[in-house]
Amino acid sequence: MKKIGILTSGGDAPGMNAIIRAVVRAGIENKMTVYGIKRGYAGLINSEFEEMSASDVSEIIQHGGTVLRTARCPEMETEEGQKRAADVVNVLRLDALIVAGGDGTFKGADVLSRMGINVIGIPATIDLDMACTEYTVGFDTAVNTGLEAINRLRDTSNSHERCSVVEVMGRDAGYIALWCALAGGAEEVLFPELKPEGNADVIKQIMDNRAKGKRHNLIVVAEGVGGSQALAKEISALGIQSRATILGHLQRGGMPTALDRMHGSVMGYYAVKAVQAGEKNKAVVYTGGKYKLINLKDAINSVKQNEDIGKMYEMIKVLAI
Ligand code: F6P
Repeated sequence: MKKIGILTSGGDAPGMNAIIRAVVRAGIENKMTVYGIKRGYAGLINSEFEEMSASDVSEIIQHGGTVLRTARCPEMETEEGQKRAADVVNVLRLDALIVAGGDGTFKGADVLSRMGINVIGIPATIDLDMACTEYTVGFDTAVNTGLEAINRLRDTSNSHERCSVVEVMGRDAGYIALWCALAGGAEEVLFPELKPEGNADVIKQIMDNRAKGKRHNLIVVAEGVGGSQALAKEISALGIQSRATILGHLQRGGMPTALDRMHGSVMGYYAVKAVQAGEKNKAVVYTGGKYKLINLKDAINSVKQNEDIGKMYEMIKVLAI
């Protein structure tokens, strides 16, 4: 009888509960003992785990966050922390540790795999910034939450004939910003992959649009660029009332969309199937419209291809006239 562990690590992402549910239930269905490890690698290091039953994961698929909780874990970057984490996996005699999270989580997985632990990774972060996959669980919900905020801001911005500056999450990546901008009908988007030198271009765009008769404006700013309050002040000083709204952690919470529940469930299921099939040190990824099992090493070493970003930006600009 195989034993597996599941943990969620790094920033929580809507859909992580779907992953946990799928791993627990597919594991039990495959006659495995499944341990839920609390608080990501921090909980692993401190031996915080419990065996999970199918009913432990009922009524969780519709909730954001992660029932296993999560944490950033600086200890996992130290040799001592890594050794303690590996020791706990060995004491538990886990055949595999399934980890859901972003790049930092995968780095931890890579370290453990080099210490002889079998780790299966599932990409889950709202940022969509992992090179190994075209989808990361949580992204769709975060974008939809951003869009809902933008819709609301449009009401008030339109009524006051103002310029709204909306700052969205994404760490060093611009995907959330670009999707929110294109789907939200923004006139301009500032994102780290094309970091602007100052605000001159964006201000010119707003001025040009006002001259064409637009009575309100919307600018999306990625947190990797930041400075949304300063930008709003600069625009206000030119005579166009402007307000900045930083969405921040609001974007990480909330009911996961169908897409995030779907990807989370399928990836969790495939991770268990991989363990059942005797696979070692893999990542379940989504590329070219298909779920694939790739080597964890290759997942870690992939380099993000950003060709779509330029096209998206071009479209946003064309549609902003
Ligand atoms: O990686 C997910 C994310 O929400 C980023 O978009 C953001 O930069 C970061 O996490 C915030 O981290 P924390 O919740 O630790 O402040």
